[in-house]
Amino acid sequence: MDKILVTGGLGFIGSHTVVELQNSGYEVVIIDDLSNSSIDILDRITTITGIRPQFEQLDLKEKTKVSSFFKNHNDIKGIIHFAASKAVGESVENPLMYYENNINTLVYVLQELKKLDHANFIFSSSCTVYGQADELPITENAPVKKAESPYGNTKQIGEEIISDTCKVNPKLKSIALRYFNPIGAHDSANIGELPIGVPQNLVPFITQTAIGLRDQLSVFGNDYPTPDGTCIRDYIHVVDLAKAHVVALERLLQNKNESNYETFNLGTGKGSSVLEVIQSFERVSGQKLNYKIADRRAGDVIAAYADTSKANNELGWKAQLTLDDAMKSAWKWEQNIRKNA
Ligand code: WQD
Repeated sequence: MDKILVTGGLGFIGSHTVVELQNSGYEVVIIDDLSNSSIDILDRITTITGIRPQFEQLDLKEKTKVSSFFKNHNDIKGIIHFAASKAVGESVENPLMYYENNINTLVYVLQELKKLDHANFIFSSSCTVYGQADELPITENAPVKKAESPYGNTKQIGEEIISDTCKVNPKLKSIALRYFNPIGAHDSANIGELPIGVPQNLVPFITQTAIGLRDQLSVFGNDYPTPDGTCIRDYIHVVDLAKAHVVALERLLQNKNESNYETFNLGTGKGSSVLEVIQSFERVSGQKLNYKIADRRAGDVIAAYADTSKANNELGWKAQLTLDDAMKSAWKWEQNIRKNA
Protein backbone atom coordinates (compact mmCIF):
# COMPACT_ATOMS: atom_id res chain seq x y z
CA MET A 1 0.00 0.00 0.00
CA ASP A 2 1.69 3.23 -1.15
CA LYS A 3 2.21 5.78 1.62
CA ILE A 4 1.19 9.33 0.77
CA LEU A 5 2.02 12.48 2.75
CA VAL A 6 -0.71 15.13 2.85
CA THR A 7 0.46 18.45 4.29
CA GLY A 8 -2.43 20.58 5.55
CA GLY A 9 -4.44 17.36 5.56
CA LEU A 10 -6.88 18.55 8.24
CA GLY A 11 -7.93 21.58 6.20
CA PHE A 12 -10.96 21.96 3.94
CA ILE A 13 -9.63 20.47 0.69
CA GLY A 14 -6.94 18.45 2.45
CA SER A 15 -9.38 16.48 4.61
CA HIS A 16 -11.60 15.64 1.63
CA THR A 17 -8.52 14.50 -0.30
CA VAL A 18 -7.39 12.27 2.59
CA VAL A 19 -10.81 10.57 2.47
CA GLU A 20 -10.52 9.94 -1.28
CA LEU A 21 -6.93 8.67 -0.93
CA GLN A 22 -8.02 6.20 1.74
CA ASN A 23 -11.01 5.20 -0.38
CA SER A 24 -8.51 4.42 -3.15
CA GLY A 25 -6.42 2.20 -0.89
CA TYR A 26 -3.55 4.53 0.00
CA GLU A 27 -1.90 4.76 3.41
CA VAL A 28 -2.02 8.41 4.48
CA VAL A 29 0.18 10.40 6.83
CA ILE A 30 -0.96 13.93 7.60
CA ILE A 31 1.14 16.89 8.67
CA ASP A 32 -0.82 19.88 9.96
CA ASP A 33 0.12 22.75 12.28
CA LEU A 34 -3.52 23.18 13.36
CA SER A 35 -3.29 26.93 12.71
CA ASN A 36 -6.40 26.84 10.53
CA SER A 37 -7.95 23.47 11.37
CA SER A 38 -8.77 21.33 14.40
CA ILE A 39 -7.64 17.91 15.58
CA ASP A 40 -11.21 16.60 15.68
CA ILE A 41 -11.15 16.52 11.87
CA LEU A 42 -8.91 13.46 12.29
CA ASP A 43 -11.76 11.67 14.12
CA ARG A 44 -14.22 12.84 11.49
CA ILE A 45 -12.08 11.42 8.67
CA THR A 46 -11.80 8.15 10.61
CA THR A 47 -15.58 8.04 11.05
CA ILE A 48 -16.04 8.35 7.28
CA THR A 49 -13.43 5.83 6.12
CA GLY A 50 -12.96 3.59 9.16
CA ILE A 51 -9.20 4.12 8.87
CA ARG A 52 -7.32 6.54 11.13
CA PRO A 53 -4.62 8.39 9.17
CA GLN A 54 -1.22 8.81 10.82
CA PHE A 55 -0.91 12.38 12.06
CA GLU A 56 1.98 14.63 13.07
CA GLN A 57 1.43 18.16 14.31
CA LEU A 58 4.29 19.99 12.65
CA ASP A 59 4.99 23.56 11.56
CA LEU A 60 6.68 23.27 8.17
CA LYS A 61 8.45 26.58 8.88
CA GLU A 62 10.66 24.59 11.27
CA LYS A 63 13.24 23.34 8.79
CA THR A 64 15.01 20.88 11.10
CA LYS A 65 11.72 19.24 12.08
CA VAL A 66 10.80 18.91 8.41
CA SER A 67 14.12 17.22 7.77
CA SER A 68 13.74 14.75 10.64
CA PHE A 69 10.17 13.97 9.56
CA PHE A 70 11.37 12.89 6.11
CA LYS A 71 14.18 10.85 7.68
CA ASN A 72 11.55 8.95 9.70
CA HIS A 73 9.27 8.52 6.69
CA ASN A 74 11.61 7.62 3.85
CA ASP A 75 8.96 5.27 2.40
CA ILE A 76 6.68 8.09 1.24
CA LYS A 77 5.71 7.55 -2.42
CA GLY A 78 3.89 10.84 -3.01
CA ILE A 79 3.24 14.22 -1.42
CA ILE A 80 0.15 16.39 -1.77
CA HIS A 81 1.01 19.84 -0.45
CA PHE A 82 -1.94 21.86 0.84
CA ALA A 83 -0.29 23.50 3.86
CA ALA A 84 -0.47 27.26 3.31
CA SER A 85 -2.37 30.34 4.44
CA LYS A 86 -5.16 31.20 2.00
CA ALA A 87 -7.10 34.30 3.02
CA VAL A 88 -6.76 36.94 0.31
CA GLY A 89 -7.63 39.92 2.55
CA GLU A 90 -5.39 38.76 5.40
CA SER A 91 -2.49 38.43 2.97
CA VAL A 92 -2.83 42.10 2.02
CA GLU A 93 -2.69 43.07 5.71
CA ASN A 94 0.19 40.72 6.57
CA PRO A 95 2.27 39.94 3.46
CA LEU A 96 5.41 38.76 5.26
CA MET A 97 3.44 36.13 7.20
CA TYR A 98 2.16 34.83 3.85
CA TYR A 99 5.57 34.80 2.17
CA GLU A 100 7.11 33.02 5.15
CA ASN A 101 4.29 30.52 5.63
CA ASN A 102 3.61 29.75 1.98
CA ILE A 103 7.06 30.02 0.40
CA ASN A 104 9.63 29.02 3.04
CA THR A 105 7.65 25.87 3.84
CA LEU A 106 7.47 24.90 0.15
CA VAL A 107 11.25 25.34 -0.19
CA TYR A 108 11.93 23.18 2.90
CA VAL A 109 9.70 20.38 1.61
CA LEU A 110 11.28 20.50 -1.85
CA GLN A 111 14.76 20.42 -0.33
CA GLU A 112 13.82 17.13 1.34
CA LEU A 113 12.28 15.71 -1.84
CA LYS A 114 15.51 16.38 -3.74
CA LYS A 115 17.21 13.83 -1.44
CA LEU A 116 14.82 11.03 -2.43
CA ASP A 117 15.40 8.61 -5.33
CA HIS A 118 12.12 9.73 -6.79
CA ALA A 119 9.41 12.11 -5.68
CA ASN A 120 5.86 12.73 -6.84
CA PHE A 121 4.65 16.15 -5.73
CA ILE A 122 1.16 17.59 -6.13
CA PHE A 123 0.93 21.33 -5.48
CA SER A 124 -2.22 23.14 -4.40
CA SER A 125 -2.42 26.14 -6.70
CA SER A 126 -5.24 28.46 -7.66
CA CYS A 127 -6.99 30.13 -10.60
CA THR A 128 -5.97 33.29 -8.81
CA VAL A 129 -2.73 33.09 -10.82
CA TYR A 130 -4.68 34.19 -13.92
CA GLY A 131 -6.11 37.39 -12.39
CA GLN A 132 -8.76 38.74 -14.79
CA ALA A 133 -8.07 36.53 -17.80
CA ASP A 134 -8.34 38.15 -21.24
CA GLU A 135 -10.28 35.19 -22.63
CA LEU A 136 -12.93 32.93 -21.14
CA PRO A 137 -13.04 30.02 -20.49
CA ILE A 138 -9.51 30.06 -19.08
CA THR A 139 -6.97 27.53 -20.38
CA GLU A 140 -3.69 26.53 -18.72
CA ASN A 141 -1.90 28.57 -21.41
CA ALA A 142 -3.57 31.79 -20.32
CA PRO A 143 -0.90 34.27 -19.21
CA VAL A 144 -0.17 34.44 -15.51
CA LYS A 145 -0.88 38.04 -14.60
CA LYS A 146 0.42 40.23 -11.81
CA ALA A 147 -1.19 38.86 -8.66
CA GLU A 148 -3.90 40.95 -7.03
CA SER A 149 -2.76 39.90 -3.55
CA PRO A 150 0.28 38.49 -1.72
CA TYR A 151 -1.71 35.26 -1.37
CA GLY A 152 -2.08 35.02 -5.15
CA ASN A 153 1.57 35.93 -5.53
CA THR A 154 2.63 33.05 -3.28
CA LYS A 155 0.82 30.66 -5.63
CA GLN A 156 2.58 32.15 -8.67
CA ILE A 157 5.97 32.10 -6.96
CA GLY A 158 5.30 28.59 -5.68
CA GLU A 159 4.65 27.32 -9.20
CA GLU A 160 7.85 28.95 -10.45
CA ILE A 161 9.91 27.46 -7.59
CA ILE A 162 8.58 23.99 -8.40
CA SER A 163 9.07 24.40 -12.15
CA ASP A 164 12.66 25.61 -11.70
CA THR A 165 13.42 22.76 -9.27
CA CYS A 166 11.93 20.13 -11.59
CA LYS A 167 14.04 21.44 -14.47
CA VAL A 168 17.27 20.43 -12.69
CA ASN A 169 15.92 17.41 -10.80
CA PRO A 170 14.50 14.95 -13.35
CA LYS A 171 13.68 12.52 -10.53
CA LEU A 172 11.24 15.08 -9.11
CA LYS A 173 7.87 14.97 -10.88
CA SER A 174 5.22 17.54 -10.06
CA ILE A 175 1.73 18.66 -10.98
CA ALA A 176 0.28 22.03 -9.98
CA LEU A 177 -3.51 21.92 -9.68
CA ARG A 178 -5.15 25.31 -10.25
CA TYR A 179 -8.44 25.22 -8.36
CA PHE A 180 -11.28 27.46 -9.30
CA ASN A 181 -13.79 27.97 -6.45
CA PRO A 182 -14.02 24.93 -4.15
CA ILE A 183 -17.36 24.69 -2.30
CA GLY A 184 -19.58 22.12 -0.62
CA ALA A 185 -18.86 19.25 1.78
CA HIS A 186 -18.64 15.47 2.04
CA ASP A 187 -22.15 13.98 1.81
CA SER A 188 -21.75 12.47 5.30
CA ALA A 189 -21.67 16.08 6.63
CA ASN A 190 -18.76 14.98 8.83
CA ILE A 191 -16.25 17.26 7.08
CA GLY A 192 -16.64 20.53 5.23
CA GLU A 193 -15.55 24.14 5.08
CA LEU A 194 -14.98 25.58 8.55
CA PRO A 195 -13.80 29.19 8.25
CA ILE A 196 -12.49 30.71 11.47
CA GLY A 197 -14.24 34.01 12.24
CA VAL A 198 -16.29 35.89 9.66
CA PRO A 199 -16.23 33.96 6.36
CA GLN A 200 -14.53 35.75 3.47
CA ASN A 201 -15.90 33.34 0.89
CA LEU A 202 -19.43 33.40 -0.53
CA VAL A 203 -20.77 29.93 0.22
CA PRO A 204 -19.93 29.70 3.93
CA PHE A 205 -21.33 33.21 4.35
CA ILE A 206 -24.56 32.06 2.69
CA THR A 207 -24.96 29.01 4.92
CA GLN A 208 -24.03 30.94 8.08
CA THR A 209 -26.62 33.60 7.19
CA ALA A 210 -29.26 30.93 6.58
CA ILE A 211 -28.57 29.26 9.93
CA GLY A 212 -28.70 32.62 11.76
CA LEU A 213 -25.01 33.09 12.55
CA ARG A 214 -24.85 36.16 10.24
CA ASP A 215 -27.64 38.71 9.88
CA GLN A 216 -27.48 39.28 6.14
CA LEU A 217 -25.34 38.45 3.12
CA SER A 218 -23.90 41.40 1.22
CA VAL A 219 -23.67 40.82 -2.51
CA PHE A 220 -20.55 42.72 -3.50
CA GLY A 221 -21.81 44.62 -6.51
CA ASN A 222 -24.49 44.05 -9.14
CA ASP A 223 -23.22 46.54 -11.72
CA TYR A 224 -20.65 44.29 -13.39
CA PRO A 225 -20.84 43.64 -17.17
CA THR A 226 -22.44 40.21 -16.65
CA PRO A 227 -25.97 38.97 -17.42
CA ASP A 228 -27.33 39.73 -13.93
CA GLY A 229 -24.66 42.26 -12.94
CA THR A 230 -22.95 40.04 -10.33
CA CYS A 231 -19.54 38.37 -10.63
CA ILE A 232 -19.17 34.97 -12.22
CA ARG A 233 -17.05 32.11 -10.84
CA ASP A 234 -16.54 28.39 -11.50
CA TYR A 235 -17.79 26.68 -8.33
CA ILE A 236 -16.46 23.14 -8.07
CA HIS A 237 -17.65 20.58 -5.51
CA VAL A 238 -14.82 19.84 -3.08
CA VAL A 239 -15.36 16.07 -3.49
CA ASP A 240 -14.82 16.33 -7.26
CA LEU A 241 -11.74 18.38 -6.50
CA ALA A 242 -10.44 15.82 -3.99
CA LYS A 243 -10.86 12.99 -6.50
CA ALA A 244 -8.84 14.99 -9.04
CA HIS A 245 -5.89 14.96 -6.62
CA VAL A 246 -5.91 11.16 -6.51
CA VAL A 247 -6.05 11.00 -10.32
CA ALA A 248 -3.18 13.50 -10.65
CA LEU A 249 -1.09 11.60 -8.09
CA GLU A 250 -1.65 8.34 -9.98
CA ARG A 251 -0.56 10.01 -13.21
CA LEU A 252 2.83 10.54 -11.53
CA LEU A 253 3.00 7.20 -9.69
CA GLN A 254 2.31 5.41 -12.98
CA ASN A 255 4.76 7.62 -14.92
CA LYS A 256 2.04 8.79 -17.29
CA ASN A 257 3.13 12.44 -17.07
CA GLU A 258 4.34 14.06 -20.28
CA SER A 259 6.90 16.26 -18.53
CA ASN A 260 8.08 16.43 -14.95
CA TYR A 261 6.17 19.67 -14.31
CA GLU A 262 2.56 20.06 -15.48
CA THR A 263 -0.37 22.32 -14.59
CA PHE A 264 -4.10 21.51 -14.74
CA ASN A 265 -7.16 23.69 -14.22
CA LEU A 266 -9.72 22.10 -11.91
CA GLY A 267 -13.20 23.49 -12.39
CA THR A 268 -16.57 22.49 -13.80
CA GLY A 269 -16.12 24.59 -16.94
CA LYS A 270 -19.37 26.37 -16.06
CA GLY A 271 -19.64 29.92 -14.72
CA SER A 272 -22.26 30.83 -12.11
CA SER A 273 -23.08 34.33 -10.88
CA VAL A 274 -23.44 35.27 -7.22
CA LEU A 275 -27.20 35.56 -7.66
CA GLU A 276 -27.32 32.13 -9.30
CA VAL A 277 -25.49 30.65 -6.30
CA ILE A 278 -28.04 32.28 -4.00
CA GLN A 279 -30.89 30.92 -6.15
CA SER A 280 -29.30 27.47 -6.01
CA PHE A 281 -29.14 27.65 -2.22
CA GLU A 282 -32.80 28.75 -1.97
CA ARG A 283 -33.81 25.90 -4.31
CA VAL A 284 -32.03 23.14 -2.39
CA SER A 285 -32.77 24.47 1.12
CA GLY A 286 -36.32 25.63 0.56
CA GLN A 287 -35.32 28.79 2.44
CA LYS A 288 -35.27 32.40 1.28
CA LEU A 289 -31.88 34.00 1.90
CA ASN A 290 -31.62 37.42 3.51
CA TYR A 291 -29.25 39.47 1.34
CA LYS A 292 -28.68 42.99 0.08
CA ILE A 293 -26.73 44.50 -2.80
CA ALA A 294 -23.61 46.25 -1.48
CA ASP A 295 -20.59 47.97 -2.99
CA ARG A 296 -18.08 46.07 -5.08
CA ARG A 297 -15.21 44.35 -3.22
CA ALA A 298 -11.72 45.52 -4.16
CA GLY A 299 -9.73 42.94 -6.08
CA ASP A 300 -12.67 40.95 -7.41
CA VAL A 301 -12.36 39.84 -11.02
CA ILE A 302 -15.53 40.13 -13.12
CA ALA A 303 -15.59 36.54 -14.32
CA ALA A 304 -13.46 33.41 -14.12
CA TYR A 305 -14.33 29.91 -15.23
CA ALA A 306 -12.17 27.05 -16.46
CA ASP A 307 -11.53 25.42 -19.80
CA THR A 308 -11.34 21.89 -18.38
CA SER A 309 -10.43 20.06 -21.58
CA LYS A 310 -6.83 19.39 -20.53
CA ALA A 311 -7.87 17.72 -17.26
CA ASN A 312 -10.70 15.91 -19.05
CA ASN A 313 -8.49 14.59 -21.85
CA GLU A 314 -5.13 14.06 -20.13
CA LEU A 315 -6.18 13.23 -16.57
CA GLY A 316 -9.36 11.49 -17.62
CA TRP A 317 -11.07 13.49 -14.88
CA LYS A 318 -14.29 15.51 -15.16
CA ALA A 319 -16.36 17.16 -12.42
CA GLN A 320 -19.49 15.07 -11.83
CA LEU A 321 -21.37 17.11 -9.23
CA THR A 322 -23.53 20.16 -9.85
CA LEU A 323 -23.87 23.54 -8.15
CA ASP A 324 -27.09 22.31 -6.51
CA ASP A 325 -25.26 19.18 -5.22
CA ALA A 326 -22.59 21.42 -3.71
CA MET A 327 -25.03 23.88 -2.13
CA LYS A 328 -27.11 21.02 -0.71
CA SER A 329 -24.01 19.44 0.88
CA ALA A 330 -22.80 22.80 2.21
CA TRP A 331 -26.17 23.41 3.86
CA LYS A 332 -26.29 19.87 5.37
CA TRP A 333 -22.77 20.41 6.76
CA GLU A 334 -23.69 23.81 8.26
CA GLN A 335 -26.77 22.33 9.94
CA ASN A 336 -24.78 19.37 11.24
CA ILE A 337 -21.96 21.37 12.85
CA ARG A 338 -24.38 23.86 14.43
CA LYS A 339 -26.84 21.36 15.87
CA ASN A 340 -24.44 20.39 18.68
CA ALA A 341 -22.99 23.89 19.08
C1 WQD B 1 -16.87 34.68 -4.87
C2 WQD B 1 -17.83 35.76 -5.34
C3 WQD B 1 -17.44 37.92 -4.40
C4 WQD B 1 -18.49 36.94 -0.29
C5 WQD B 1 -11.20 33.34 -3.40
C6 WQD B 1 -9.71 33.31 -3.61
C7 WQD B 1 -9.34 32.06 -4.34
C8 WQD B 1 -9.87 30.88 -3.58
C9 WQD B 1 -11.37 30.98 -3.45
C10 WQD B 1 -8.19 30.08 -2.06
C11 WQD B 1 -17.14 37.09 -5.61
C12 WQD B 1 -18.80 37.38 -3.98
C13 WQD B 1 -18.24 36.84 -1.65
C14 WQD B 1 -19.58 37.73 0.17
C15 WQD B 1 -20.12 38.26 -2.11
N1 WQD B 1 -9.28 30.81 -2.30
N2 WQD B 1 -19.04 37.49 -2.52
N3 WQD B 1 -20.37 38.36 -0.76
O1 WQD B 1 -12.81 35.74 -4.34
O2 WQD B 1 -13.60 34.18 -6.22
O3 WQD B 1 -11.83 33.42 -4.65
O4 WQD B 1 -11.64 32.20 -2.73
O5 WQD B 1 -7.58 29.39 -2.82
O6 WQD B 1 -7.93 31.99 -4.43
O7 WQD B 1 -9.35 34.42 -4.43
O8 WQD B 1 -14.14 33.62 -3.83
O9 WQD B 1 -16.08 33.16 -2.38
O10 WQD B 1 -14.59 35.15 -1.83
O11 WQD B 1 -16.12 35.25 -3.80
O12 WQD B 1 -20.84 38.86 -2.93
O13 WQD B 1 -19.85 37.86 1.39
O14 WQD B 1 -18.78 36.00 -4.30
O15 WQD B 1 -17.54 39.31 -4.68
O16 WQD B 1 -17.77 37.69 -6.73
P1 WQD B 1 -13.11 34.36 -4.83
P2 WQD B 1 -15.24 34.29 -2.86
